[in-house]
Amino acid sequence: MFFFEHFLAAVLLQGALVFLPLFAQPQDLSGFISIDCGISDGSRYTDETTGISYLSDTQFTESGENKEILQAYRAQRASEKQFWNLRSFPEGTKNCYTLKPGRGKGTKYLIRAGFLYGNYDNEDQAPTFDLYLGVNVWDTVSIRNAWTPKTTEIIHVISTDRIHVCLVNTGNGIPFISVLELRPLRDDVYVTKNGSSLALYGRFDFSSLSTDQQVLRYKDDAYDRLWVSLETKMWKPFLTTSLTDDNSINRNDYQLPFTIMNTAYTSNRSTDFMDFYWKNLSVTSEYYFYMHFAELEKPQTNQTREFNIYINRDLFYGPVVPKYLSENTIYSKITSGMKADREGQITVWLNNTENSTLPPLINAMEIYILKEMSQQETNQTDAEAIWNVKSAYEIEKNWQGDPCAPEAFTWDGLVCDYNSDYPPRIISLDLSNNSLNGTIPEFLAQLSFLIVLNLKGNNLTGPVPDVLSEKSKNEYNGDNGSIVSRKKHFTYSEILKITNNFETVLGEGGFGKVYYGNLKGNEVALKLLLRVHHKNLTTLVGYCNEETHIGLIYEYMTMGNLRSHLSGSTPNILSWEDRLRIAIDIAQGLEYLHNGCKPPIIHRDVKSTNILLNEKFQAKLGDFGVSKIFPNEGDRQSVSGTLGVSTNVVGTPGYLDPEYYASNWLNEKSDVFSFGVVLLELITARPVLTKAEENNHIILWVSSKLANGDIENILDPRLERRFINTNIVWKTIEISMACVSKTSTSRPAMSRVAIDLKECLRAELTRKDGNDEAESKQYLVEMISQNITSSEQLTPQAR
Ligand SMILES: *[C@@H]1O[C@H](CO)[C@@H](O)[C@H](O)[C@H]1NC(C)=O
Ligand SMILES: *[C@@H]1O[C@H](CO)[C@@H](O)[C@H](O)[C@H]1NC(C)=O
Ligand SMILES: *[C@@H]1O[C@H](CO)[C@@H](O)[C@H](O)[C@H]1NC(C)=O
Ligand SMILES: *[C@@H]1O[C@H](CO)[C@@H](O)[C@H](O)[C@H]1NC(C)=O
Ligand SMILES: *[C@@H]1O[C@H](CO)[C@@H](O)[C@H](O)[C@H]1NC(C)=O
Ligand SMILES: *[C@@H]1O[C@H](CO)[C@@H](O)[C@H](O)[C@H]1NC(C)=O
Ligand SMILES: *[C@@H]1O[C@H](CO)[C@@H](O)[C@H](O)[C@H]1NC(C)=O
Ligand SMILES: *[C@@H]1O[C@H](CO)[C@@H](O)[C@H](O)[C@H]1NC(C)=O
Ligand SMILES: *[C@@H]1O[C@H](CO)[C@@H](O)[C@H](O)[C@H]1NC(C)=O
Ligand SMILES: *[C@@H]1O[C@H](CO)[C@@H](O)[C@H](O)[C@H]1NC(C)=O
Ligand SMILES: *[C@@H]1O[C@H](CO)[C@@H](O)[C@H](O)[C@H]1NC(C)=O
Ligand SMILES: *[C@@H]1O[C@H](CO)[C@@H](O)[C@H](O)[C@H]1NC(C)=O
Repeated sequence: MFFFEHFLAAVLLQGALVFLPLFAQPQDLSGFISIDCGISDGSRYTDETTGISYLSDTQFTESGENKEILQAYRAQRASEKQFWNLRSFPEGTKNCYTLKPGRGKGTKYLIRAGFLYGNYDNEDQAPTFDLYLGVNVWDTVSIRNAWTPKTTEIIHVISTDRIHVCLVNTGNGIPFISVLELRPLRDDVYVTKNGSSLALYGRFDFSSLSTDQQVLRYKDDAYDRLWVSLETKMWKPFLTTSLTDDNSINRNDYQLPFTIMNTAYTSNRSTDFMDFYWKNLSVTSEYYFYMHFAELEKPQTNQTREFNIYINRDLFYGPVVPKYLSENTIYSKITSGMKADREGQITVWLNNTENSTLPPLINAMEIYILKEMSQQETNQTDAEAIWNVKSAYEIEKNWQGDPCAPEAFTWDGLVCDYNSDYPPRIISLDLSNNSLNGTIPEFLAQLSFLIVLNLKGNNLTGPVPDVLSEKSKNEYNGDNGSIVSRKKHFTYSEILKITNNFETVLGEGGFGKVYYGNLKGNEVALKLLLRVHHKNLTTLVGYCNEETHIGLIYEYMTMGNLRSHLSGSTPNILSWEDRLRIAIDIAQGLEYLHNGCKPPIIHRDVKSTNILLNEKFQAKLGDFGVSKIFPNEGDRQSVSGTLGVSTNVVGTPGYLDPEYYASNWLNEKSDVFSFGVVLLELITARPVLTKAEENNHIILWVSSKLANGDIENILDPRLERRFINTNIVWKTIEISMACVSKTSTSRPAMSRVAIDLKECLRAELTRKDGNDEAESKQYLVEMISQNITSSEQLTPQAR
């Protein structure tokens, strides 16, 4: 058994770059990008060993300082010039290299970064920092000491025309980089899941003709992969061909170098199997294996070499019969990388089949770790426009890498909108006080989501381009809803800023407080620790979710609350149909709280001032300040046949369930009562309580009218009678009176109320549209009135 400890990977990653160009042959170098960081501006040279041409890094980065490693370390790396110099980044948190490779987006690249500290700063403090590829974390670079080089490699399909490689200071020393290399690969090799890349864990050449520990690369390897040779006394003998012609082994698309394929290890005859394992692996990572085989001994007619490959006891592939002098690559399925076992170990077995007369053999192996690259880059149109701004004005600031992502590194002066469904968009650009000269460029108009553009304090000349002033007319002033209508992620620190450290509490209740906040000039209500989301409850503008802190920011409803529309303080009169729709919206919102939330939620403060209307007069239920989460089923206590909890009475006079008031026993039917009161308000437009009149509560007032058979005068006098069908009004009054029944058991469930109200709406629409349209409308209403709980599935789930 052969045990690969972590150090074996380390041998590769930190291996000495001594090359053995045994069978050098001309190769296509096109597409190689080789950057020697920190050499003098504009210089270039050809590496003697590999023949690869290295460029200085000045055209790829704007920051950092050129440094040299100390002479002693340089002497140790006599043949590896790329490590002699480096660029360090003492300023700023994120510093980037930006490359625009000619092959453009969609190209698969092997991207490799190398680091040798060499005590360049005489501080003897080897740093640790993060490396990003685009907007995603590629690796954490931990430099061990002054003399060990560190190399990290990833196979990545670039999704945009620009590649950003960024070094991020994490407070553990000054980031630096020695060498950066990009090698284009064929599309059809090392294929992985969309949205992920393969980071190299180890790449091994099993047995080798050479004696020293060494690394083999270009020109032997056309892709310039670095191969570390692996020598062990455990497996003997190793096989080798006596061939010398580079083309004597047929290659597949993986193009393994002849010098690697013409040697292999086999097990010795005493075992007939080979196994090797890696310990201390991350148990959460997915490992992708690429194993390369070629038969090197021409088998006799009575001989077979046939074996199965097992990984962690599962058959990985088999049987394998390596072809004579022909490269055969066996690799993990795209969809399923291998996981380490619970102890963090992966074991690979090559076991002979029963009929095999020869032991197993292996020539080379590569192991990669799957890296999710799921962060979205800024919308490319926006990114292109802002890069144009940057070059037109020669802006330096911290404008490096992706403009909006990761969110923590948004460019100074930009505000972006983040939405998990779309790439980030730039919504605000502040270029004030930059001494910018020249004219205002038209391409700013390409920032189609821009709502704030600040160019004060500059020396810009000429008129504002037409496209921009048009845009300004259309968007900048008018619709201030465009920020708040889109969902956004907020960090906890942003939440602190928005609420001014939770300064003002707007409401407080059973499961969280509601705070006052100011989001980019918009007043918002912010609540922590509530996870409710439904179309008919005020929607989230965003939320913050950082482990223990979960915050929600509610949208601002432009038309204000329902009461103001009923009391006559607004010019428009809600039509009867509007009122039915509002009632349905609220009924559904409550139904969701009662039945759709686990545990169920009792709102406890349903009232017309808590019902908010948007510009289309659609209603949502707001203010969860006093809401109460129902305890688990088992914790409920039974009171007169219903389930409830005992609480201190909360709520608003006039809407308060008398049974709850008397007993302190709360259940969903308390909300039904309050809803019934709101429904009466919708019908009558009367205040809930009036001091002047005898029957001063709306319920008493309606009851007395009903007792006198005076249905006609119950309805809001502002509604034109000729448009109203008395039957439907009558039915609606019936529903509301059932809701405000004295005993909770007599009140219908919210789901029943919603169904009945939809019935009223359907009747109303049928009546209004005459017979021709009746059918289609009916169909529409049917759609609305389908199984109510399914509306949950139509809206994003609570987070
Ligand atoms: C990956 O993306 C490519 C191009 O966008 C697409 O053709 C392919 O079907 C995707 N593959 C999977 C497994 O989603
Ligand atoms: C054969 O392998 C075993 C362990 O697998 C090892 O102990 C032994 O020395 C090997 N024999 C030879 C001849 O290499
Ligand atoms: C295993 O990994 C942990 C953390 O990565 C490290 O601290 C520990 O030294 C490793 N153990 C061995 C035996 O390599
Ligand atoms: C295979 O055949 C050769 C002769 O052609 C013979 O010497 C050898 O013993 C045979 N091996 C086996 C395993 O039968
Ligand atoms: C492979 O062979 C070895 C030795 O015979 C055995 O211990 C092991 O269980 C086999 N592995 C599998 C997966 O069959
Ligand atoms: C092994 O060889 C025998 C005889 O040729 C054959 O019958 C048997 O199916 C083979 N077994 C396997 C697993 O291939
Ligand atoms: C980026 O923005 C442009 C212009 O607004 C738009 O047409 C394009 O669809 C956006 N791209 C993506 C991927 O959303
Ligand atoms: C620009 O300068 C003016 C005047 O000095 C100052 O009031 C304003 O705050 C500055 N704006 C920014 C973004 O620094
Ligand atoms: C604008 O230009 C004038 C003359 O070139 C100069 O005096 C002034 O300082 C500049 N203002 C800014 C804000 O750069
Ligand atoms: C802007 O200013 C720079 C130097 O201050 C000058 O070189 C350049 O010509 C100016 N551009 C315009 C368009 O005036
Ligand atoms: C409330 O939900 C219903 C269906 O669930 C939907 O038709 C209606 O538009 C929603 N109201 C608002 C204001 O979103
Ligand atoms: C609602 O739909 C669910 C799932 O489709 C079903 O189980 C349930 O019985 C339905 N309820 C009603 C009242 O139709």
